Amino acid sequence: MSWTVQDQSFDRERITTNGNKFMTGNGYMGYRGTLEEFGKEQLAAVTLAGVYDQAGGKWREPVNAPNGLFTRLSCNGQQLGVLNTEPERHTQELDIRSAVHKRETVYGLAGGGQLVFTAERFVSMDQLHLLAGKLSINSTVDCRIVIESGIDGDVWDINGPHLHARQEQFVEGVLRSSAVTGELGVSVSVAERTVFSFDAKETAGDSAIRVISFDAKAGETYEWFKFAAVYTGLDAGDNPALLAEQNVRAAEEAGYNRLLEAHRDAWEERWLQSDCMIEGDDAAQFALRYSIYQLLIIAPTGSEKVSIPARGLSGQVYKGAVFWDTEMFMLPFFLHSDPRTARNLLMYRIHTLEGARRKAAEYGFLGAFYAWESQDSGDDACTLFNVNDVFTGRPLRTYFRDKQVHISADVVHGIWQYVIFTGDDTLLTEGGAEVIWECARFFYSYAYYNPVKQRYEILDVTGPDEYHERVNNNAFTNALVKETLEVALKSAELLQAKFPEEFRKLTRQFVDGPFLKEFQTMLDSFYVPQPDSETLLIEQFDRYFQLEEVGLAELKSRVIHKNEYWGGGNGLATTTTILKQADVVLMLNLFKRSYSREVKQANWEFYEPRTEHGSSLSPCIYALVAADIGSPDWGYPYFMRTATVDLTGESKQYVGDLYIGGTHPAANGGAWMAAVLGFAGVQFDGKVLYIKPALPEQWNVVELPLILLGDSFRLRISRNEITVTAATGNRNALALIAFGGERQLCRPGVRLRLQLAGTITADEQQGAL
Ligand code: BGC
Repeated sequence: MSWTVQDQSFDRERITTNGNKFMTGNGYMGYRGTLEEFGKEQLAAVTLAGVYDQAGGKWREPVNAPNGLFTRLSCNGQQLGVLNTEPERHTQELDIRSAVHKRETVYGLAGGGQLVFTAERFVSMDQLHLLAGKLSINSTVDCRIVIESGIDGDVWDINGPHLHARQEQFVEGVLRSSAVTGELGVSVSVAERTVFSFDAKETAGDSAIRVISFDAKAGETYEWFKFAAVYTGLDAGDNPALLAEQNVRAAEEAGYNRLLEAHRDAWEERWLQSDCMIEGDDAAQFALRYSIYQLLIIAPTGSEKVSIPARGLSGQVYKGAVFWDTEMFMLPFFLHSDPRTARNLLMYRIHTLEGARRKAAEYGFLGAFYAWESQDSGDDACTLFNVNDVFTGRPLRTYFRDKQVHISADVVHGIWQYVIFTGDDTLLTEGGAEVIWECARFFYSYAYYNPVKQRYEILDVTGPDEYHERVNNNAFTNALVKETLEVALKSAELLQAKFPEEFRKLTRQFVDGPFLKEFQTMLDSFYVPQPDSETLLIEQFDRYFQLEEVGLAELKSRVIHKNEYWGGGNGLATTTTILKQADVVLMLNLFKRSYSREVKQANWEFYEPRTEHGSSLSPCIYALVAADIGSPDWGYPYFMRTATVDLTGESKQYVGDLYIGGTHPAANGGAWMAAVLGFAGVQFDGKVLYIKPALPEQWNVVELPLILLGDSFRLRISRNEITVTAATGNRNALALIAFGGERQLCRPGVRLRLQLAGTITADEQQGAL
């Protein structure tokens, strides 16, 4: 079974998409899948998690560090790079098992003969600041080689430059490039060391590039190594340059192979925790693993101050901002496989509570209104005019920032899911409860009490479907607000019982209300749109059913400009029932246990033809609900679409004239959700694990590791049989219900085999897992 992504030719047209497809990273930084000689025009980038900067009055964006792996080659004065010399052969390859990127390029030499250039590199998963590369050449003729190797400080920026007062130094064989960001004065330092295993003359070139020349003998392989380290003032205090230098010296000492080994071991560990196997469908297996890979390279394992941006660490697109994508689409993967990283993601929301409080106050509300586009401080990076009109060139007023209030409920949902999955309620005492209550207070102040209908409603919002702005009683939003109120009450009850002293301290700030009493009152008469008794349909928002009914094909035929925006005041979809992305269906997925199969099916069938899937967040949800209603084959094409989005590069690249390309971690998380929570039918409610598979035709088995309430399990799920293996070290027995049957207990060290026909076998086994 292949773990390799490969391209066997060079195509200029694919430079940008390959930058995404061949990404490597470790959560601290992302390294785009560009080639060694590429620079900013080819969007080479080392994107740093959590370091933001604003330049020139434009929007803030993440900072790209200088590229410490930059290498350029020439032979007898002929530049050998794919952009200058059409290669005779070229392969670019990414091994997703160990996150190692390789290229091999064969150039025809001007005076006859061939030269093979190879380069291998990785962003260490073992040492988060480190990058390492191994390079070589082999020529069929004697020739003079010149290598330029160093740190390319001419970085790609959308709204830069961000790095100022750049200083480049050569300290005993180590190149150091240091600069500070313009807005916050954060220092960013990169150190680089090139190590040759042959005799070569080295001279310092201009800037932080060294020039190495030597005479190559025909048929001989010349190999060299590069080590680079990146530190910033946010993680290394006063002297990031020194730490970077020390890191590359230590790397040289350890040697490439040992570093690679440690990196591979760290990856093996990651895959042990998270690999999900599909038997019977190689294409799906590869796409799912690739999706998991994309999540692993951006997971903030080492910091609770950053979360995952909507385009991961694939560049500055989307301002490097964190959206609801994280809690609703990526978090489930981490909750099931790596609760510690899940905790970091939620701690990020706790650390940005002040920003959310400021935003609520700015709009005249109480509590916490989280940023639609969140960066380091939690203040909203989303502008009021977020899209440009392609016809007039003028900015369009959008209501993402002001009206996608569901973001605060999504954050609460994420926190509560974490508590349910891990049983770790310290997250609540460490700020989680405060976030929950502040979000509930926000909704209390946002809600409208309808005196005629005698109910609380949520008016003037934008739901997940961004094409319909400022609507009333969006079913999704209302359902999540209801959950927020419930969670606010439940978490209060939990803390009161378990940490009464903490509860008293934390709630002192809310004594004047609104607080629990008001939440309860609001909950008691809160309106959530319900299925129609005849059609079973849930109206997406008030009067949605009155909009123009038009087929998607018909709507597309009305398009004048391929990048025109379908939403906003005059958008093509605004006056119709066409929606951008899963909305009601997403709600049905989140609260799947509260709705009947018939309701889910009726709504799936109604909304599916009306959904554009104009967001990469959408297809996975249709796959999930299709599986839930027992029609996995309806869901399969949606699964494949989600799971291959960063392999095919087929996704929306522009909204108006704004470039939105990059990787799609929400879709990657969606692929995992569709496979595990959808087709394998895994669901945990904090007490019982339910498994009710609905596998697509060609899938025979789904197998995966799982962590629930701190205990480890392995699931093997087929159409007729489910095996649950509990690690011997587990503390508690797990209650589970398979195939909708009787409740069983899986004690530590036991393997339970449960058959569709109802037979149950328990093996006591030794030292499992
Ligand atoms: C979607 C949002 C999403 C954002 C970032 C938009 O196109 O409509 O739901 O949060 O992209 O991925």
